[in-house]
Amino acid sequence: MKVLVTGGLGFIGSHTVVKLIENKFDVVIIDNLFNSKLVVLDRIEKITGIRPVFYQFDVQNKEKLREVFIKEKPEAIIHFAGYKAVGESVAKPLMYYQNNLESTFALLDCMAEFNVKNLVFSSSATVYGLPDKVPLTEDSPVKSATSPYGETKVMIERILTDICAVNKDYNVALLRYFNPIGAHKSGLLGEDPNGIPNNLLPYINRVATGQLKELNVFGDDYDTPDGTGVRDYIHVVDLAEGHVLALKKLATNSGLVIYNLGTGKGTSVLEVVHAYEKATGIKIPYIIKERRPGDVPENYAGTDKARKELGFKCKFNVEDACLDGYNFQKAENERNGK
Ligand code: UFG
Repeated sequence: MKVLVTGGLGFIGSHTVVKLIENKFDVVIIDNLFNSKLVVLDRIEKITGIRPVFYQFDVQNKEKLREVFIKEKPEAIIHFAGYKAVGESVAKPLMYYQNNLESTFALLDCMAEFNVKNLVFSSSATVYGLPDKVPLTEDSPVKSATSPYGETKVMIERILTDICAVNKDYNVALLRYFNPIGAHKSGLLGEDPNGIPNNLLPYINRVATGQLKELNVFGDDYDTPDGTGVRDYIHVVDLAEGHVLALKKLATNSGLVIYNLGTGKGTSVLEVVHAYEKATGIKIPYIIKERRPGDVPENYAGTDKARKELGFKCKFNVEDACLDGYNFQKAENERNGK
C-alpha cells in the first residue's frame, strides 16, 4: 500500500516513516523543512535501506499537491505537517490557524478529487482541555483547547468528523497523542529543536549535555503526589507503531475512529528527572519556578480502546525513552561539532 506522509521528516513523522517501511508500506513524503532537516531522509535510508520518494513544498500549495496525487496515486494519507509550538501559537494565532487549517483543506480537496478515502490525522490530548477526571478516555468531552495550536486540532477533528458523517466510505483515524519523547535506537532520528526547547525532554537533554545550566520546573504546588505536573510520556517508536496499526484498522473500512496513543501511566516532572538520572547516570540540576500559564495539572491516557481495537501496546518505558533521547542529543551534537 502506498502512503503519503505529510511532515514525514519531522520528529514523529520520521519515526513513523521508518516503521511504515519496516512494515512493507511504500512511502512518499512531503515536507517543507520548516521544522525538519533534509539529512533526515538520508538517515531514514541508512536505517531502512530504502530512500522514500520525497517532495519539498508546503502542503498548502494545492497545485503541487495535485501533481503529487496524480503522479504517486497514494491510497492513504498520514497528515503530520503542522505548526506545533503552544506558546508561539498564542503569540501568532493567525499563522497557526492559517497553516494548520489550509494544509488540511488542500489535502481534503485532493483526497476528494482523486478518490483517496483513508486518512490518519495527528491530533493531540490537548483536545481534552482541562480534564475533569483522569485517565482520559476517548469519550471524555472535547473542550476548548488552551491555545490556538490546540484549537486547530479541535477544529480539524470536527471538520473530519463532519466529512465522515456524510461520506460513509471515508476511513479516518484521529490519533490523540499524549507526550511523545525518546528517539530512535540508532541515535540517527530524534528531536533537536531550534533555540531553547519548550518541551520537557528536549530541555533536559540540553542540561544533560551541558548546553543549558539547569531545568526550570514549572510549579510544585499542583494537586499531584509531588506537586509537579503529571503527563503520559510515550516513546516515539511506540507512537510510530500506533500509526501502522491505525492504517491497518482503516483497511477494514472502519469509518471514523478515535484513539488515544499513550501509555496509560502518569509521570511527574520530578519523576522524569529521576528516571533520566537513573537511565543516563547524569545529574540534572533543577530549580522550582512559577506554574507555566495554560498547563494542566495532570493528564494521562485511558488505553483500553487502542489496546482492544488496534492491539496497541507500548514496549518502552520512560527510562528507555530518556536514554534514547540522551544518546540522540549527544550524537547530534557530535555530528554538528558542538
Ligand atoms: N515542564 C517543566 N519545565 C520545562 C518544560 C516543561 O517543568 O522546561 C513541565 C510542564 O510544566 C509540564 C510537563 O513538564 O508539566 C510537560 O511539558 P511539555 O511542554 O513537555 O508538554 P505539554 O504537556 O505541555 O505539551 C504536550 C505537547 C503539546 C500538546 C500537549 C497536550 O507538547 O503539543 O502535550 O497534551 F498539546
